[in-house]
Amino acid sequence: MFSVLVLVSTLLIHILLAAGATPRPLVLWHGLGDSHASPGMVEFASMIQDIHPGIFIHSVYIEKELDKDRQAGFYGNVNEQLDSVSQQLAAIPELKAGFDGIGFSQGGQFLRAYVERYNSPPIHNLLTFGSQHMGISDIPICRPLDLLCQAARRATKQAVYSPWAQANLVQAQYFRDPANLDTYLSANTFLTSINNEDPLYRNQTYADNFASLNTLVLILFTQDKTVVPKESSWFGSEVIDDEFISEQRVLSSRSIIPMHLQPLYVEDWIGLRRLDEQGAVVFEICEGEHMRIGDCWEDLVRQWTGELV
Ligand SMILES: *[C@@H]1O[C@H](CO)[C@@H](O)[C@H](O)[C@H]1NC(C)=O
Repeated sequence: MFSVLVLVSTLLIHILLAAGATPRPLVLWHGLGDSHASPGMVEFASMIQDIHPGIFIHSVYIEKELDKDRQAGFYGNVNEQLDSVSQQLAAIPELKAGFDGIGFSQGGQFLRAYVERYNSPPIHNLLTFGSQHMGISDIPICRPLDLLCQAARRATKQAVYSPWAQANLVQAQYFRDPANLDTYLSANTFLTSINNEDPLYRNQTYADNFASLNTLVLILFTQDKTVVPKESSWFGSEVIDDEFISEQRVLSSRSIIPMHLQPLYVEDWIGLRRLDEQGAVVFEICEGEHMRIGDCWEDLVRQWTGELV
């Protein structure tokens, strides 16, 4: 029975391919400490090509040179980086009818920002692995001897909300300290914007674009100790203030506000609630530490990317 099904579906794929159908293209955005064509990224793309033969894959870069691209994950102005990536994607002929997106770690919130602000060409399915959609409340520890990371971390911790950090240190631009929310709201230059957190400046286009996704797949690493809190990848954040506590229920000091209780969701600032009510938000987990992807990506890639179009 099973082999008959496999045969039929294989046949169907061949018929569609013969009719000129191709897998929907895919765009990858790597994580912090990585670059667009590191051995890991190249291998990942080639494994996807084994699953979806003929698929076109583009790996987003800020700089073509690998060392500089890696550096641009730590240092730079995220809003400007996004602008350049939007031009990069718009100039690729293979992508012009739209594509699926996979964002690793910070690459996930950056692809979401692309959807909200540009989405031309549009993203169909967006998968984010261990991303920081509600920011981070601590700066991740670096690997020993990773001097680039250590210098960026030191600078970020020193004055995370200073204008210089907010224009030059990537992690500062999605640092969201629940103990210091007012400072975050007034100083942050990126996350407040894509989360439409400023009541005087909510951009309806962001919400409409985000709600236009076909499916949003949010993947959380169960043992993630790099992203604080790890629930940020499911739009969770650490408890915010007393007012919130009294309205909901008493939460201990490091409790998580899940997506469904976030004001951003309840009042639908970014279209997330609309998406969710269409059944278009999927929560997934990968067992293990941050970005220890193992083989956990494979079923997700099979299910959510490479549809013949
Ligand atoms: C809202 O976002 C859209 C898309 O990025 C942009 O074109 C528009 O200028 C923004 N509106 C405001 C008021 O900033």
